[in-house]
Amino acid sequence: MSQPDDPHPDDPHPPMLLLDSLSATAALAGRLARLAEAGDIIGLAGELGAGKTAFARAFIHARLGEMEVPSPTFTLVQIYQNGGAPIWHFDLYRLEDSAEIYELGIEEAFDSAICLIEWPEKMAGNAPRDWLEMRLNPGAGENSRRAVFTPHGARAERLLQRLGAPDG
Ligand SMILES: Nc1ncnc2c1ncn2[C@@H]1O[C@H](COP(=O)(O)OP(=O)(O)O)[C@@H](O)[C@H]1O
Ligand SMILES: [Mg+2]
Repeated sequence: MSQPDDPHPDDPHPPMLLLDSLSATAALAGRLARLAEAGDIIGLAGELGAGKTAFARAFIHARLGEMEVPSPTFTLVQIYQNGGAPIWHFDLYRLEDSAEIYELGIEEAFDSAICLIEWPEKMAGNAPRDWLEMRLNPGAGENSRRAVFTPHGARAERLLQRLGAPDG
């Protein structure tokens, strides 16, 4: 098995993926949605307008079907539980102190839900021990993005590995 610190030319991980349209982003979100399980924590980084909420919306639709998925900009978190693992969708942009995440019940979510966390850098020193970071960077055109994955922990590494596997 390859190690995160030891990249290899045959590494099946997709550390960087080119997403040339919103539907490409949605397709990636759908693939990750099918692999994710309760306890998986996915941090969605990138500037305003990068597509973090668009990704989360497609992820939630892929698991739970069509439904309204508002941006949790003001509520900080939206919880979806329609059977199966609950999904907690966070937007921490407005957080002033990283310790405020505990007031949102985030520890319960870390244990028993799938967490999608926009602006994960706001967790600072209170970040969980194991999480998968996906950063959306601008691409060449208006509708293109580059998704860069960084696993923080062994569980995230395994999730990323399954995402990169041919039938993942
Ligand atoms: N490839 C793409 N991936 C994600 N969003 C895209 C893409 N191309 C265009 N967009 C658009 O960019 C905007 C992203 O907004 P949003 O998801 O709210 O960003 P964020 O949550 O990162 O601030 C949406 O209007 C979306 O339709
Ligand atoms: Mg957003």
